[in-house]
Amino acid sequence: MLVTGGAGFIGTNFIRRTLATRPEYEITVLDKLTYAGNPENLRGLDIRFVQGDIADADIVDTLVATHDVIVHFAAESHNDNSLDNPWPFVHTNIIGTYTLLEAVRAHGTRLHHISTDEVFGDLALDDPARFTETTAYRPSSPYSATKASSDLLVRAWVRSFGIPATLSQCSNNYGPYQHIEKFIPRQITNILCGLPAKLYGTGEQVRDWIHVDDHNDAVHVILDRGEIGQNYIIGADNDHVNNKQVIELICELMGQGSYEHVADRPGHDMRYAMDSTKLRTELGWQPAFTDTETGMRTGLLHTIEWYQEHRSWWQAQKAAVEARYQQQGH
Ligand SMILES: NC(=O)c1ccc[n+]([C@@H]2O[C@H](COP(=O)([O-])OP(=O)(O)OC[C@H]3O[C@@H](n4cnc5c(N)ncnc54)[C@H](O)[C@@H]3O)[C@@H](O)[C@H]2O)c1
Repeated sequence: MLVTGGAGFIGTNFIRRTLATRPEYEITVLDKLTYAGNPENLRGLDIRFVQGDIADADIVDTLVATHDVIVHFAAESHNDNSLDNPWPFVHTNIIGTYTLLEAVRAHGTRLHHISTDEVFGDLALDDPARFTETTAYRPSSPYSATKASSDLLVRAWVRSFGIPATLSQCSNNYGPYQHIEKFIPRQITNILCGLPAKLYGTGEQVRDWIHVDDHNDAVHVILDRGEIGQNYIIGADNDHVNNKQVIELICELMGQGSYEHVADRPGHDMRYAMDSTKLRTELGWQPAFTDTETGMRTGLLHTIEWYQEHRSWWQAQKAAVEARYQQQGH
């Protein structure tokens, strides 16, 4: 199995989970090691690591030709960065995916493309609708527009060239190994550093959070039983929990009384909600990290413990990440 972007947040968790649950896989990672990729995440694991760019046709062709299945996580993934400089997003998410698709077309290798709910844009807070596999694409940010573009390329290569690919759109993930620029680890590491947790705007935004292991188990179910050419929505039914409730739950779990409000992100999407009925009924997937209250307490507790126990993984970056947020007014 070739895993692109395997040194990032979800890719790292995917590899660790795959090695633990499916030891028959031999894994190669292709990762450029941008600021978001950390080779330490994979240290000591029984994998082959290739540092390279998914937009480099030579490397990609050689690797695709010699693997049976590809799981494509590599992307520029942070919305705020895409507002500052969209070019790396166009390069990696669009040109990189195109490069991979051309190699897949040449060699007929099975591909699973990882996408995001953000391709669908957002819903109004009072809109009870949920995204489904047939929802029209309506991306808001350069990040989501480039992810939408990559999805459309995959769909076109399936339709026009018959490549053996599946796609999935998942909601926001949380869990270990997530870069501390992202919402949940930023709050956890702020509190661990004696800083206040920071809430964008009023915190009414709803993100339908899912634990990264639930996402990755769904990817394996799609690899095992998914129908070629299909896309699958992945979500854990947390579309009743807003950012304010998430931050308050983190504060409660970490014994912190208060948090600070900071300027909202321009064009901030309001509500994402996922209807994963197709994945559940057709392929039999169920999320494991759910509980009645917020759907997140157990998963968040595990995540908080991980950041507490892995301070050396994030501490050196903390000051720079917060300085960048301060510059952006958040
Ligand atoms: N994080 C989420 O909540 C979420 C939700 C749904 C979907 N996704 C999607 O899942 C995938 C992984 O997200 P993540 O949060 O793990 O991202 P991440 O930013 O943590 O990791 C991305 C990885 O891709 C690598 N990379 C970047 N550009 C590359 C290039 N040109 N060539 C090779 N490697 C490159 C980076 O070095 C890094 O290791 C992305 O496609 C993202 O759109 C993420």
